[in-house]
Amino acid sequence: MSDAPIPTDTKSIKMELQPGTYWWCSCGRTSHTPFCDGSHKGTGLQPKKLVIDEVTTVSLCQCKASLNAPFCDGSHRQL
Ligand code: FES
Repeated sequence: MSDAPIPTDTKSIKMELQPGTYWWCSCGRTSHTPFCDGSHKGTGLQPKKLVIDEVTTVSLCQCKASLNAPFCDGSHRQL
């Protein structure tokens, strides 16, 4: 059993990311949104790994309802 994710916003956030490994916050409890700060501990939820190979602009989900997380899939429009 896990706690429910908490939306951190009602829309996505567009960001240019440098190459590297990122951990997208799935629980919504981070103070470093949209990335994990370890606050999911005890919720049963886990962050999602995002590997960026070259400088890329991404649209990351903040409503926590995307079926293609960590990316926005437009699901926030249904909330
Ligand atoms: S912000 Fe979650 S689907 Fe768009």
